[in-house]
Amino acid sequence: MSFDRQIKIAPSILAADFANFGAECRAIEAQGADWVHVDVMDGHFVPNITFGPATCAAIRPHIKGFMDVHLMISPVDAYIEAFAEAGADLISAHLEAGPHIHRTLQAIRGTGKKAGLAINPGTGVDAVKHLLDMVDLVCVMTVNPGFGGQKFIHSQLEKIRALRAMIGDRPIHIEIDGGVTVETAPLVVAAGADVLVAGSAVFKGGSVDNPGPYGVNIAAIRAAAI
Ligand code: DX5
Ligand code: ZN
Repeated sequence: MSFDRQIKIAPSILAADFANFGAECRAIEAQGADWVHVDVMDGHFVPNITFGPATCAAIRPHIKGFMDVHLMISPVDAYIEAFAEAGADLISAHLEAGPHIHRTLQAIRGTGKKAGLAINPGTGVDAVKHLLDMVDLVCVMTVNPGFGGQKFIHSQLEKIRALRAMIGDRPIHIEIDGGVTVETAPLVVAAGADVLVAGSAVFKGGSVDNPGPYGVNIAAIRAAAI
């Protein structure tokens, strides 16, 4: 993947039909998704459980483009190899998930995959400063991780602006995850974001049998963001 800051819409399959992941991934890509965002939750780091590397490996053949795997698990390190083998293009780990995030990011890069650093709403941008050489993406959580359909936390906009200034010319994406809608997309892009994760706002009104609304929703978010 060559680096650019064009706006990318990354639908989260957390809002998809869990019995139809393959078809859902094909549908969102056909309807204009740039990346596919895959939320892995362990019921320990976050109060919800989704799925693990076996499911990621099963859906991989249904994704033509970029598979963006967001690990909301603790500990992380023991599972990195499995998610890399499952076919992730980028693996994000949370700064709050353990005492040695630097080592975790090294381990992700060691698999040959892109490395992402996710930060919770309560984590300050200073914590990221000494990790910037290790990452291809910083994921700013604009809700507390664990569930889709939550309300965007507006105080995170200041953090996005500070992060954008800190990143400067480095080839590092700023991804926003949580509560992205046609209303909030322009705010996060103005603050410096370039990858927009959206679950409910993409999947609302559609289904694998009626995927047209996915395309309408993706186009509306993109139009609002640019
Ligand atoms: C939250 C997840 C998000 C979530 C976004 O823990 O990481 O990706 O699915 O969902 P919406 O867009 O519905 O806020
Ligand atoms: Zn996510």
